[in-house]
Amino acid sequence: MRTLSDHIFDLAQNSVNAEASNIKVSIEENIPGNTFVIRIEDDGRGIKPEHLSKVKDTFFTTRPSDKRNVGLGISLMDATCQRCGGSLDIQSNYRHGTKLITTMEHDNLDRPPLGDLPAIFTSLILSSLENKVKWVLEHAVNDKRYQIRNRATMEELNILSYSDPEAKRKLLSLIKAKERSIRS
Ligand SMILES: Nc1ncnc2c1ncn2[C@@H]1O[C@H](COP(=O)(O)OP(=O)(O)OP(=O)(O)O)[C@@H](O)[C@H]1O
Ligand SMILES: [Mg+2]
Repeated sequence: MRTLSDHIFDLAQNSVNAEASNIKVSIEENIPGNTFVIRIEDDGRGIKPEHLSKVKDTFFTTRPSDKRNVGLGISLMDATCQRCGGSLDIQSNYRHGTKLITTMEHDNLDRPPLGDLPAIFTSLILSSLENKVKWVLEHAVNDKRYQIRNRATMEELNILSYSDPEAKRKLLSLIKAKERSIRS
């Protein structure tokens, strides 16, 4: 089953592909308010105004055609949001950045589970080229939240290089602890 974490990874990959230097991923769960909101904001190359209305189409992609010739990430997430009583909104300032806001009903039976967020946050940090992207990754459940900034976190964990074999284990265990702290 495709989890929300899988969607988040794909959508954040769009920001990486757009050569963003700063990418913020924010997940806000509000259980009393029955909302599940995911925001992904970047300062990448943005989307041309004439392309903006097409990005939700299954076949729209600006990826080089030597690769797969469909663009699925946004259309899959859009379908998921609509099934879950919500919507996907994308705003872009060409050459300056893109902001994606998705909403779903928290208690909707069709809403996919969040999945393994620590693994996805860890992969995002480690998959970007050495220190090239500044990530801000945050998760809030009601009034509790945590935030990870990759550079500060790497220093805090004394990880000198992204290829350090200990990097993955240390990041995973830190993020898992932060997840526990907002759920207790
Ligand atoms: N953050 C972004 N910055 C700039 N362009 C974007 C961004 N997100 C999406 N796009 C544009 O929208 C198109 C469609 O995105 P979508 O994720 O649906 O498909 P894709 O990334 O092309 O392919 P796939 O997700 O299947 O690997 C992209 O090809 C790109 O042109
Ligand atoms: Mg994509």
